[in-house]
Amino acid sequence: MKTIRTSIIGFGAIGQGVAEVLLLKKEYLRSLGLEVRVVAVADSKGATFNPNGVDLAKCLVRKRETGTVALEKLSGLELIKRLDHELVIETTPTNIETGGVGLQNMRAAFETGKDVVTSNKGPLTLKYGELQEAAKAAGSKFRFEASVGGAMPIINLVNEVLAGNEVKGIKGILNGTCNYILSRMLEEKASYKDILAESMELGIAETDPSYDVEGIDTACKLVILANALFGLDATYNDVEVTGITKITPDALEMAQENGYVIKLIGEVSRKGLQVAPRLVPIKHPLAVGGTLNVASVDTELAGEITVTGKGAGPIETASAILSDLISIYREC
Ligand SMILES: NC(=O)c1ccc[n+]([C@@H]2O[C@H](COP(=O)([O-])OP(=O)(O)OC[C@H]3O[C@@H](n4cnc5c(N)ncnc54)[C@H](OP(=O)(O)O)[C@@H]3O)[C@@H](O)[C@H]2O)c1
Repeated sequence: MKTIRTSIIGFGAIGQGVAEVLLLKKEYLRSLGLEVRVVAVADSKGATFNPNGVDLAKCLVRKRETGTVALEKLSGLELIKRLDHELVIETTPTNIETGGVGLQNMRAAFETGKDVVTSNKGPLTLKYGELQEAAKAAGSKFRFEASVGGAMPIINLVNEVLAGNEVKGIKGILNGTCNYILSRMLEEKASYKDILAESMELGIAETDPSYDVEGIDTACKLVILANALFGLDATYNDVEVTGITKITPDALEMAQENGYVIKLIGEVSRKGLQVAPRLVPIKHPLAVGGTLNVASVDTELAGEITVTGKGAGPIETASAILSDLISIYREC
């Protein structure tokens, strides 16, 4: 049995989802010869740690009842630096301006020879090349399937399942909030403003929705795909971005009368990166509704491969983190 000592840094929706999935999959992981021992859990107020393993079920209850998992004033960053372990599961908030604490956590993880699995787009959007170099220099593994499309497999699909294929381009819907708003505007023939209000009430859109509706979130995901799958050295400034705020119910209806839907499509190829509302034929595989994500990969040998799935949600996103973890430790 191989023991993997891991920390979970960031214990919000996704960090807690990871804890639940690790509890649920304990026996399955053992059947693969892996014992995943969580030695530290941190949120913004502090942390709990135990080199012999923390009690994850108790961490979940404590977080729910008191609002924090912390038993110590130590930060996640200090624990990454000081506590012996193999893997950092990094699930702190995305910050695309500075990389946030996630960037510091990842740098510290690689400086101390640890592997990183993350759902955090910020550091990847800003410092992809630097982080890959740091991982390589340390001999560390670095996986981030959950950062693009949540549960929908795209990075590992291209790098592993479609290995050997040259990828000509990828296009898709990478933001569930925009997809929900456009789908509902068409269904209800309602204005952008009304459906945005509904989305906020349902918790589908954030209180400040600009990151989603202006296309910024989709652009960040495209940057990650461009770097991870096309070997480009792209940053956010390389993306031409138009969001969905100017789409009207009339435009959606006119498109429908002509056999199309309007979707916020992100597109990446060696020629460039674009995010913009596009007309998609109603019966096309990219024309998925609700909060779903979808990506179509244009490959040299296999033709077009399309995947769709849930782009968000604690358990769904944790499933991508789990699969990264398994693929790191099963392969070595
Ligand atoms: N939600 C999704 O469906 C989804 C899907 C794909 C990717 N993601 C990405 O996954 C990451 C986590 O998302 P989330 O929805 O779980 O966010 P969240 O609910 O806001 O949780 C973030 C967690 O990070 C903690 N945190 C903040 N500053 C910290 C620090 N300095 N040290 C340690 N922990 C710190 C927060 O602490 P407190 O609990 O004390 O506030 C919270 O526990 C984000 O980067 C997000 O973009 C999310």
